[in-house]
Amino acid sequence: MTDHPTHRPRRLRTSPAMRRLVAETSVDPRQLVLPLFVAEGLTEPRSISSMPGVVQHTRETARAAVREAASLGLGGVMLFGVPEHKDALGSGALDSDGILNVAIADARDEVGDDLLVMSDLCLDEFTDHGHCGVLDDAGRVDNDATLEVYARMGVAQAEAGAHLVGPSGMMDGQVAVVRAALDAARHTDVAILAYAAKYASAFYGPFREAVDSSLQGDRRTYQQDPANRREALREALLDVQEGADIVMVKPALGYLDLLPLIRDHVTVPVAAYQVSGEYAMVEAAAERGWIDRERAIGESLTSIRRAGADIVLSYWAAEVARQA
Ligand code: PBG
Repeated sequence: MTDHPTHRPRRLRTSPAMRRLVAETSVDPRQLVLPLFVAEGLTEPRSISSMPGVVQHTRETARAAVREAASLGLGGVMLFGVPEHKDALGSGALDSDGILNVAIADARDEVGDDLLVMSDLCLDEFTDHGHCGVLDDAGRVDNDATLEVYARMGVAQAEAGAHLVGPSGMMDGQVAVVRAALDAARHTDVAILAYAAKYASAFYGPFREAVDSSLQGDRRTYQQDPANRREALREALLDVQEGADIVMVKPALGYLDLLPLIRDHVTVPVAAYQVSGEYAMVEAAAERGWIDRERAIGESLTSIRRAGADIVLSYWAAEVARQA
């Protein structure tokens, strides 16, 4: 006579209907944000070899992508600009005719307030040296000189129509100066999605192709060391103190441990960015038949949500929402 187990967790896994009833986490279109690259001077979208399925958009195709994002019920789009000309100061970022600012205006023109239009607030796409800030005479990224440019860039993006700006350069004090500049220009309703814990990561590799990055060297004097965890919390707490409305962890999958840590210590929403390298790994393996693409996408997004992200930036956002 064998004893029957009293506790049978498997009972709750017996059928798809039962599993659906007890699922603790879901990934809803409203929680997903689609990053989009808009390139100056293109007449056709240009594919990005390291990110199959992702393109550099023309202004026209970007409009269509933004419209689709709205009709799918996504949380928003995060716009990145790819300018034709770069200089040491990244002046294209401030110009109202600069590619990112016109892309923001195009997006707002398409969707009004039906979809949140977010913009990357960083100089790396606009500088000829590829760094996220301006350089001092010794060639080092000058934190405080960069802050002045970020403040103006934030206002330019708000004037173009951004609902949220996303300072991603990891300069100390960036959230405070952008907030103050927005408020002084009466853009008190424009929100700040702060890239609070952004690591110096190899997983941004494909993104560098996506934005035609001219970076030599690395970003280790401003982006975080992958070895550090407490430091991410410190960064997030500082950003909240400085006025961030949402804080973000980036990349996502390798840094899942930071999500519950930050989630438990702040009261604002927490976002995570599933970056280009995370996308490329799954796409490459799937292309070779080494992994079930759809399941891997669903599982990675679910894991990021389960770990504590309220919002996820993902290059698969539209595809996942189309299937929802
Ligand atoms: C900086 C920025 C980067 C990414 C988003 N914003 C690149 C970097 O810091 O090198 C990476 C996004 C990705 O890899 O998907 N403007």
